[in-house]
Amino acid sequence: MEPVIPDLRETPRTEAYARLREMQDLLLHDSTDAIAGMATLSALLHHAFGHLWTGFYRVVEPRRLLRVGPYQGSLGCQEIAFGRGVCGTAAADARTVVVPNVHDFPGHIACDARSQSEIVVPVFDATGALMAVLDIDSPVLNAFGDEDVKGLEQLVDWFTRTTYVPVPA
Ligand code: SME
Repeated sequence: MEPVIPDLRETPRTEAYARLREMQDLLLHDSTDAIAGMATLSALLHHAFGHLWTGFYRVVEPRRLLRVGPYQGSLGCQEIAFGRGVCGTAAADARTVVVPNVHDFPGHIACDARSQSEIVVPVFDATGALMAVLDIDSPVLNAFGDEDVKGLEQLVDWFTRTTYVPVPA
């Protein structure tokens, strides 16, 4: 049986992310599969913190287009162009974007009307290329701070360290 995801809503964030890193290592220690990594991390984060939407948009056309990947929550939009919305901005700039109030972010794409705040973190592969973004939506305002930025960037570093990149022929 798989381990139960702990409820970390009341746990200090630094400690909460350390526990999730341990679970990520335990669950993915013999994996180099990016989709397995995305699915597992979405489930861990979503259920530990009770977010509204937690998942990945994958780069399917470099510098142009993101497409939805593994996620947990209500339906997300299928595709997002680089530069559009919070996800497209984070992808175009290859940096983490924290939005305390989505209603104040010009061009925010509302997939779920309950969303109030959001964080999007870039995911890089072992070559340093942008492969995806991790998007988390919260039903409460100002849900994400510096500890979330650090904790999430450390979790997505798994993809940089371990995803399989073929050796060019
Ligand atoms: N709010 C995001 C779109 C993705 S969904 O909310 C799942 C954005 O503005 O990029």
